[in-house]
Amino acid sequence: MAVEVLTTADGRAKTALSRRHAAAWFAARAAGTPIPVGTANPPMQPARPAQPELLDPRDVPRRRPGSVQGRTAILHAVAHIELNAVDLHWDIIARFGHIPMPPGFYDDWVKSADEESKHYNLVCDCLEAMGSHYGALPAHAGMWRAAEDTAADILGRLAVVPMVLEARGLDVTPGMIEVFRKAGQQDVVDALGVIYAEEVGHVAYGSKWFHFLCGRHDLDPKDQFHALVKRYFHGALKPPFNEEKRAEAGLPPDFYWPLADETPPRHAR
Ligand SMILES: [Fe+2]
Ligand SMILES: [Fe+2]
Repeated sequence: MAVEVLTTADGRAKTALSRRHAAAWFAARAAGTPIPVGTANPPMQPARPAQPELLDPRDVPRRRPGSVQGRTAILHAVAHIELNAVDLHWDIIARFGHIPMPPGFYDDWVKSADEESKHYNLVCDCLEAMGSHYGALPAHAGMWRAAEDTAADILGRLAVVPMVLEARGLDVTPGMIEVFRKAGQQDVVDALGVIYAEEVGHVAYGSKWFHFLCGRHDLDPKDQFHALVKRYFHGALKPPFNEEKRAEAGLPPDFYWPLADETPPRHAR
């Protein structure tokens, strides 16, 4: 089921299939006849639509948030992130099936994939209401890099994807909501509000399963996190951090502050 989603190219089709499979997974769990977890051969790169064109981040034009074009570009970037997130959550399910994990591990990532699918559609609806669509602008290449780099390391995957990349979403989303609130675009404010609330859960699942696996292998979670982020994530983490939401998601300051490009405050050392 995960590989079927990963190998579907069109965004609306990928997310519709993702939501159908998530519903089937949870219906089977509720009926007491859970779908068995097998092993799979996910593609190294998921299928994606012909548009948008994928560019090096340095070549993606920056636009002012004060303009309609600027706000369209922000939303387009969010749609791209959400589509990547759908694939990332199904990929962790398909990629690491050979590692025995409790059923709750799959519940959490299926639920996350379902939510990302909803996020993608919400953002696409907003883009279309603005007269644009996903694919109309170029998007960042290299978002899948974290998946490729950590394809053989589940702890590295958990450290970099939910605990670094998705945690970054918690830092920047309130500022985005403010941009659209000032512009009077209530539909976008509402969509970003749903995303902001649900992303806390994805970071929390990452932290939960990261700690679970560290416990299984008798590893110190903080030391492991620092080593894995330095190994697989290219560049320092960027403050300011949303310390409150990060704490709610089970990410303490002494995990992320020492990886920032600024001196950690006293409470984070
Ligand atoms: Fe999302
Ligand atoms: Fe997410």
